[in-house]
Amino acid sequence: MEKPSMLVEYGAPIDPEAMVKPPDTTELELEPGHPGLGDEGYIRRRRELFALCRRHRLENLGPPLINYNGEETRIWREVSPKLDELHIRYASRLYLSAKRELAITRDEIPQLRLLSERLERETNMHLVPAEGALPYRTFYQYIGERGFPVTQFIRHGSHPEFTPEPDMIHDCLGHVPPLMNRDYAEMLTLIGKAVAATHKGEQVLALKRFSWFSIEFGLIEEAGERKVFGAGILSSTGEIPNSLFSPDVTRKPFVTDVVINTDYDPSRMQDHLFVAPSLTFLRSELEGLVRRFKIPVL
Ligand SMILES: [Fe+2]
Repeated sequence: MEKPSMLVEYGAPIDPEAMVKPPDTTELELEPGHPGLGDEGYIRRRRELFALCRRHRLENLGPPLINYNGEETRIWREVSPKLDELHIRYASRLYLSAKRELAITRDEIPQLRLLSERLERETNMHLVPAEGALPYRTFYQYIGERGFPVTQFIRHGSHPEFTPEPDMIHDCLGHVPPLMNRDYAEMLTLIGKAVAATHKGEQVLALKRFSWFSIEFGLIEEAGERKVFGAGILSSTGEIPNSLFSPDVTRKPFVTDVVINTDYDPSRMQDHLFVAPSLTFLRSELEGLVRRFKIPVL
């Protein structure tokens, strides 16, 4: 079964200490067990993209145009049609219409630079090139400033449906389309501002859980039907059917006080999810939470 890999700020464990002192990674690190370990060509390519994206990020140059190679395109063409079939049947309307508007296709890996320009026109959001994991506060600061950090590398070809770290398939097919929606963009920006503004570990944890169970692994009701909303589900051929149909998954109504007290494990398939009645509901619940925490960002 496919392992999920989709933590919003890239795999950091929920450790209040780590939240306060996040690490900054200046060189590519592949975790033990990564399918790309031992593949010199893959590692060379990852190092090249790491350096390029890091430079573009630090110098505020926007996403670089990438000349994707044959292997990267092959992987995209293998994975994205399978996801597309599942999206058509199970994704929220919000997601589907945005994906169509952005003209993200099964054939070509999109250029983040062009997607970013489009988002900027629609919702005043933009994409920030991310070399990989970013320190959590850096990540949320970008979001608070209406920039969404997005990777530009593709997973290893030996396991096209698995990635131990968020890659471009996760980011581009999971996170980017909903940024076309104004309510979604405002909600996300508020999470970013609030996390970046508070230094209280328990508030960060609560906001991360809110984000995890909505932006990353949320389900949503639409016209009486339960649909997939979260990017971690949308970018995984295993998680989509699992989230909606598996008898091993509990699906409860999204109650903020329950959500912010519920832990999660990003290293395995998700077995408890929350169903939000609407995006408007999520946005207003988040605003209520930020007010309750007295974080002065509203
Ligand atoms: Fe994510």
